[in-house]
Formats: sequence, structure tokens, C-alpha cells
Amino acid sequence: MAVLVIYATKTGATEQCIKVLGKEIPNCTTCDIQTEKPIIEDFDHIILGAGVRDGKIYKPIRDFIKKNHDALLQKRMGYFICNEKPKETEDIIERNIPADLKEAAVCIESFGGYKAYAAPKEGTDQLKGIFVDTILAFAEKFKE
Ligand SMILES: Cc1cc2nc3c(=O)[nH]c(=O)nc-3n(C[C@H](O)[C@H](O)[C@H](O)COP(=O)(O)O)c2cc1C
Repeated sequence: MAVLVIYATKTGATEQCIKVLGKEIPNCTTCDIQTEKPIIEDFDHIILGAGVRDGKIYKPIRDFIKKNHDALLQKRMGYFICNEKPKETEDIIERNIPADLKEAAVCIESFGGYKAYAAPKEGTDQLKGIFVDTILAFAEKFKE
């Protein structure tokens, strides 16, 4: 099953999550939306991931969802966010992912994230604050 993972990150947590995800889901193509244009026509299975600031997922992914809303409804979709405050997760998902896309999604999760302005330094654990078990469960569900 070929999967396209489209993402946006500022401090790297989202990218680290994708590395973990990529080990679990074979045949993953990744696309950093800030530097590449995703070609969604070639994929039936798509995962969208983005970091969060001030309650909003990063703009390139927000814009991508808006622009491709109808096309995404036809795909098998998973969504994840990287954010630091679990209490806000439900609200962030509610406000950033349209109800019909949410309803149709295979899985939607927060994978955790870094404390604001405290991304791990080089050479230290890059998965600090990341919910690895949640990523593994997400991958299992998406592969079903
Ligand atoms: C300016 C700023 C605003 C943030 N706002 C939120 C927020 O509203 N809710 C939350 O749960 N996390 C918030 N965070 C934490 C980020 O979502 C977290 O650091 C995440 O790892 C960012 O993803 P990225 O590393 O892929 O860029 C914020 C971080 C910064 C620096």
C-alpha cells in the first residue's frame, strides 16, 4: 500500500514522528509541503501531519486541506498533530479539521510535541515529548 505523508514542521517534532511512522508503514513517500508540491493524484492513502501554534495547525497544511477538501474526502486519510498540551488536543482537532473529513478519517491523533522554544538539542533524545506508543498504534490502525 503506497502512502503519501504530507507534513509541515517548524522545530522538527513532526519530522521525527514521521521517521517513527515510516519504519512501521512500508512504502511511505514523504513530502515537506514547505519545499515540495504534493502530487496527491498518485496516492489513495494519505497522512497529513503538522505542528501547532496558538491553537492552529501550520498554515501550509491548513491551506492544503482547504484547497483539496473534496479530493481528500475521496482518499483513505489519517491526520496527526504535534502539540505540547494534551488538554488542547481535542479542541485543536475540532477547529482545524473540517467535520466531514474528521468523520471520514481512519485515524486522527496527537503525537505529542516539544515544549515551546525547547526543542531537543542536537545529540539528545529527539523523541522527548513524543508519544511513540500512539504513533505505533496509529500505524497499526492505518495499515488495517
Ligand atoms: C509560539 C508557539 C505556540 C504554540 N502553541 C501551542 C498551542 O496552542 N497548543 C499546544 O498544544 N502546543 C503549542 N505549541 C507547542 C508546539 O505545538 C510543539 O512545540 C510542537 O512540537 C511543534 O511542532 P514542530 O516541532 O513539528 O514544529 C506552541 C509552540 C510555540 C513555539
